Amino acid sequence: MRLGIVIMAAGKGTRLKSKRAKVLHEIGGKALLRHVIQSASQIVAPHDIYVVVGHQAEQVEAAVKDTGVRFVRQEEQRGTGHAIQCAEAAVRGYEELLVLSGDVPLLKPETIAKLRDFHIAERAAMTILTAAPEDSGSYGRVLRKSANAPEVKAIVEHKALTPEQSKVREINSGIYAFRSEPLFKHIDELKTENSHGELYLTDMAEVLVNAGERVVALEAERPTEVLGANTIAEMMELDGELRMETARRLMAEGVTILRPETTVIDEGVEIGADTVIEPFVQLLGATKIGAESRVRSYSVIENSTLGDHVLVRQGCLIEDSMIANGGFIGPYARLRLGSEIGEGAHVGNFVETKKLKLGKGSKANHLTYLGDAEIGANVNVGAGTITCNYDGVNKHRTLIGDGVFVGSDSTLVAPLSIGDGAYIAAGSSITEDVPADALALGRSRQTTKEGWAKNRRARDAARKKL
Ligand code: UD1
Ligand code: CA
Repeated sequence: MRLGIVIMAAGKGTRLKSKRAKVLHEIGGKALLRHVIQSASQIVAPHDIYVVVGHQAEQVEAAVKDTGVRFVRQEEQRGTGHAIQCAEAAVRGYEELLVLSGDVPLLKPETIAKLRDFHIAERAAMTILTAAPEDSGSYGRVLRKSANAPEVKAIVEHKALTPEQSKVREINSGIYAFRSEPLFKHIDELKTENSHGELYLTDMAEVLVNAGERVVALEAERPTEVLGANTIAEMMELDGELRMETARRLMAEGVTILRPETTVIDEGVEIGADTVIEPFVQLLGATKIGAESRVRSYSVIENSTLGDHVLVRQGCLIEDSMIANGGFIGPYARLRLGSEIGEGAHVGNFVETKKLKLGKGSKANHLTYLGDAEIGANVNVGAGTITCNYDGVNKHRTLIGDGVFVGSDSTLVAPLSIGDGAYIAAGSSITEDVPADALALGRSRQTTKEGWAKNRRARDAARKKL
């Protein structure tokens, strides 16, 4: 059996009141459409997935083209039925079609597989995935021929419900399976006689029933999986759902997440056992944290890899960086792109790093900027040290060997190299390379004027008396 999947993603999403196309809005750190494509990719190969795009088509295509799916254009968005009409030429060759909505992002591959299997077993022309959530909201309702039979009479859109039909709790998820032959034989019978003047795919239920075809419904086990995201509020509900699911998975793997409802953890994040995540932490993108580590409150970590026994104190911002086992970061440190913090190294408060390699056991504990620098093992970088990596035109590198001591408030003017075991006097401006084991002083010599302060006080007192 040739099976294809169509994902409807051409709509504008008027209810969002957003400039961005609805299916590009993110939950769990990932676009709605990408969630749907990923689930669909577990059922068929990406080249058997057809995404119907229309509103902001270029942007939508660009955002997901790496997945290898194909695209179908629906230039004017005249309804969900019209979306499938636009896909007809591309998907005719498939015997069976699954139709998914780009704005129903929590749907699991297992549920898609169940819909497919049920549809095939029932030999139906159309199978509707339904649910019975607490609140049937503005969903369309599914009218069965009789309460416990799978056969369906029709789907009625929310706005067209009679008071009697409003009592029906079974909603249409907007996810269907179709046999292509009857679908495309009858799809042109759809009419625009409804409140939106659109071609509704939902009307195919009645059209097919009237043509003597079998239309059935399958109720999803978990209603949350088929919830749609039409407003920001609905999206944030699904976002919370998804992140809580991620938090539960991590907790099941031995991670302690204090007040998980306050954390923002993206789906793909991995964390080792016995690590503690404190309240109000964000772990984003492809972040990995080892075992027995701790991330304290208000830290944001994105696309970074942390080892075991790492401590990230309060209020750190860590992006595209790496922290080896036993590293200590913060509080209030900022690790930017390409920072690699070595084993047991310390990066303290108000320290900013960028493209930094900090060796094993080295410390930069206070008020420092280290950029484009490679620093060896057991180096002490004093408070207020700055690598002057930028000359106004180009960036230059600073190389510091093992066991170097950099005195406080030093400016290291790159390009610069400091040999192993060297010692930089506090307050120095270092502009020339320093050989191993040398002492470099780059500041003016101190002058001390004995009695000067006392004399000044005496002079000031005399003036006041005048
Ligand atoms: C639809 C169903 C409704 C169901 C609900 C479930 C119809 C008429 N109604 O309503 O019964 O309860 O989904 O979530 O189908 N789209 C296109 N082209 C268009 C219009 C829409 O591709 O011309 C896409 C949208 O981008 C979206 C999906 O189809 O991804 C559903 O459209 P939407 O407008 O959100 O339909 P609902 O009003 O939610
Ligand atoms: Ca919708």
